[in-house]
Amino acid sequence: MQLKPKYFLLAFLILGFTACSEQTVLPHPQPNPTSADTVQELMLNHIDPHADGIWNAVSTDKKQPRTDDEWKAVRQHATALIEAASLLADSTRPAAATGTKSENSGIATNPEEVQKSIAANPKMFTLYAQQLRVRAEEALAAIEAKNPTALQEIGGRIDASCEQCHKIFWYPNQYQ
Ligand code: HEC
Repeated sequence: MQLKPKYFLLAFLILGFTACSEQTVLPHPQPNPTSADTVQELMLNHIDPHADGIWNAVSTDKKQPRTDDEWKAVRQHATALIEAASLLADSTRPAAATGTKSENSGIATNPEEVQKSIAANPKMFTLYAQQLRVRAEEALAAIEAKNPTALQEIGGRIDASCEQCHKIFWYPNQYQ
C-alpha cells in the first residue's frame, strides 16, 4: 500500500517535531540523582561526570579556575558529587538494571555478582561511599578557599576512593 501524500506529510511533521523536541532536551544537564537510581546510573550519570569536572579543572601545567564563573562551575561539580555520594551510601540500591552490562569493555563482572558482593559486605560499601562524600566536601572547601593546589591534591584522593571501592565491589576478580 502506498502512503497517501496527506499521510506522508503528517508522518513527516510528527517525525520532524519529535526530532526537534529531542534536540532541545538532550543538551540539558542530567536530572538530579534520586534514591531510585541504580549504582550504575549513579556512576555513569552523576559520580563519573562530576568527578571529571573536578579533575579537569586543575592540572600540573598551571591550569586552574580563574574567573568567578570558572570557580562557580567547579563548585557545582563538587556539590553534585557530594549529593550523589550521599545517595551511594545506601547499600540496598540495585547494582544495575537487569540485563545491563558495564560500558567499560574488559570488565566482565555482571550486575548480579556486584549485587552479591555488596550484599555480603554492605557496611564496607557504605564506608567507601562516605569516604567519597567526605573527600568531595574537602574539595568544596578548597574551592571555597580558591586554593587550586589543595583542590588538585584532594582530586588525587577522590580518585583513590573510586579505585578502592571498585577493586572490592566492581572488579574483584582482576586482583586475585
Ligand atoms: C562505594 C563504592 C564506590 C565508589 C566510592 C565509587 N564507585 Fe564507581 N562503581 C561502583 C560499583 C559497585 C560499580 C559497578 C556497578 C555495576 O555496573 O554493576 C561501579 C561502576 C563504575 C563505573 C562503570 C559503570 C558502568 O557500568 O559502565 C564508572 C565509570 C564508575 N564506577 C566511576 C566512578 C568514579 C569516577 C568514582 C569516584 C569519583 C567512583 N566510581 C566511586 C562502586 C563505587
